Amino acid sequence: MVILKSQHRMLNEQSIIIPVLQSIRSPLNALTTIHRCYGDLVLGRFLNKKLLFVCKPEDIEEVYNQEAKGLLSRDFLYHAKKSLFGDGLINSKGRLWVNQRRIMQPIFSRDAIPEWEKVISEEAESTKNKLINTTDAEINISKELKILIQRTFIRILMGISVDNMSNRDVLVKSINNISKGLLPLMVAEIISNGKLMWFMPNKKRQYQEAVNQLTAFVNQEIASKYEQTGHDLISLLIQAKDKKTGYSMTKELLKDETVNLFFAGQDTTINTLAWFFYLIGKNEAVHKKITDELIKYKDDPLTLENLAKLSYTKASLYETLRLYPSTTALATQALEDIVIGGQNIAKGTTIILSMYVTHHHNKLWERPNEFYPEHFLNPSETERHKYAFFPYGGGLHNCIGRHFVEMEMMIIIATLLREFTFKTDADVKEAVSITLKPCRDVIVTLMPISE
Ligand code: HEM
Repeated sequence: MVILKSQHRMLNEQSIIIPVLQSIRSPLNALTTIHRCYGDLVLGRFLNKKLLFVCKPEDIEEVYNQEAKGLLSRDFLYHAKKSLFGDGLINSKGRLWVNQRRIMQPIFSRDAIPEWEKVISEEAESTKNKLINTTDAEINISKELKILIQRTFIRILMGISVDNMSNRDVLVKSINNISKGLLPLMVAEIISNGKLMWFMPNKKRQYQEAVNQLTAFVNQEIASKYEQTGHDLISLLIQAKDKKTGYSMTKELLKDETVNLFFAGQDTTINTLAWFFYLIGKNEAVHKKITDELIKYKDDPLTLENLAKLSYTKASLYETLRLYPSTTALATQALEDIVIGGQNIAKGTTIILSMYVTHHHNKLWERPNEFYPEHFLNPSETERHKYAFFPYGGGLHNCIGRHFVEMEMMIIIATLLREFTFKTDADVKEAVSITLKPCRDVIVTLMPISE
C-alpha cells in the first residue's frame, strides 16, 4: 500500500526553550526533562531551528534506515567537528567515508581483534600486580583505569610504551581539554549554528590549543611509522588497501583517522569501566555473582573464546552501558521532508537520538534506574527491540571499535576481579563532558579475593 505523506500527522511544536538553554550546562537534564514533559516524539524550536527528539526504539530504527537511504545526514556538524576529527570516520562524508570504512573495518573485525589480546592482558596484569603491591586499602580506581587504558591504547595504536614517552603529560592534558571543550562546541552548533560559542571565546581558544597539541603529537608518530612499519594499528592503517579498487589512505587521512581512534577509543572505555567498578562496588550481590563466575573459569586464558563463557559478567558490563552510555546522544538532520513515527517532519529539522533517555525508558526496562544485569539475561531480552539498547549507535556509522573494546573491557574486568573485590559507599553522579563520566573519581576499598 502506498502511503502519501499528507496522510501523516503534523506534530505540534512544544515550548522547549528552557530545557534547551539548560542543555549548555547539562544536556542530560535537558533531554530527560523534554522526554518526561512531552513524551517519545517531541518537536520543538530554538532560534528558528526545528529540533525533533526521538526516544522510541521503532522510531530510532526508522531514523537509521532513513539515514542509510541518504534522507538524513550529519554533515551539518561537519565544520564543528572538522578542527578535531578532520576527515576521519567520525566526520567524513559520502564516498570518502565509504572508502575509509571499507579498508578499516577488517582491522576491527571479530576475527582480527585477538591480535591485541596479549597486549591488553599484559597491561591488565601489570595494573593487577601494582594493586597487589599497594599498601593502601582505598584506591582511586578512576585514576588506575585511566592510566591502564591510556597505556594499552598507546601501545596498540603506536607500538610504544608510555614509559618511553617524554611528552606524555602534555598529551594527557590535551586529551582532557578536548573532552571538556568539544561538548559545548557541539551543543552550540546543534542548537544555534555555532553562534552561542561567540559568548565563550576562552573555551574556544583552549579547545583549539589542545587540538593543535594532539595533532602535532600524532603527526610525529606517523612520520616515524612511514620510515619503519611495525605491528601497531598505525602501521596496519598504512598498509590497509581495498583489494578490488586498490584504494589506500593518504598521509593526511591517516593523521585524521589516528586522531579519531585516539579520541573515540579512550574516554569512552575509561568511563565505562569506572562506572562498572563503581556499580559493582555498591552492589555486593551482583559482584558476588560475577566473582563466582570468574572463579569457575579461573584457569582459562582470557581469550575471546573463553570470555564468551562469562555471560553474567558480560550482562553486568552491558547493564553498565545501559545506565551510563558513554555517548549520551547523537544528532542528524533531515535533507528532505520525511516521516518518522507516522509524523511529517520538515526538511532541515535536526533529529536528536538519546541513548541515555531510551536506556532509562520505563516502558522498555523492568527496572529502568537500577543496576540489574538480569535485564540482559532474562528471556524478555530476546523480545526487546534492538534499539532499546544502542550504546554503540547503529546504522551505517555504528561503532567500528565495538568488538575490540568489549574484548578489552572484559579482559580488564576478569583480570582484576579474579584477584580482588571492590567496595564503595560513595554516591557518584553523572558529569557530562563529550562522554558521560563520573562527576568525581571513584574511590574503592580493595580486598584480595581469598580473604
Ligand atoms: C565503551 C566504549 C565505546 C562506546 C560506548 C562507543 C560508542 C560509539 C558510538 C555511540 C558511536 C557513534 C555511532 C553512530 O554515529 O551511530 C561510535 C562511533 C565510532 N567509534 Fe566507538 N565507542 C566505544 C569505543 C570505541 C573504540 C575503542 C574505538 C576505536 C578503537 C572506537 C571507534 C569509533 C569510530 C572510529 C567511530 C566512527 C564510526 C563511523 O562513523 O563510521 N570506539 N562509537
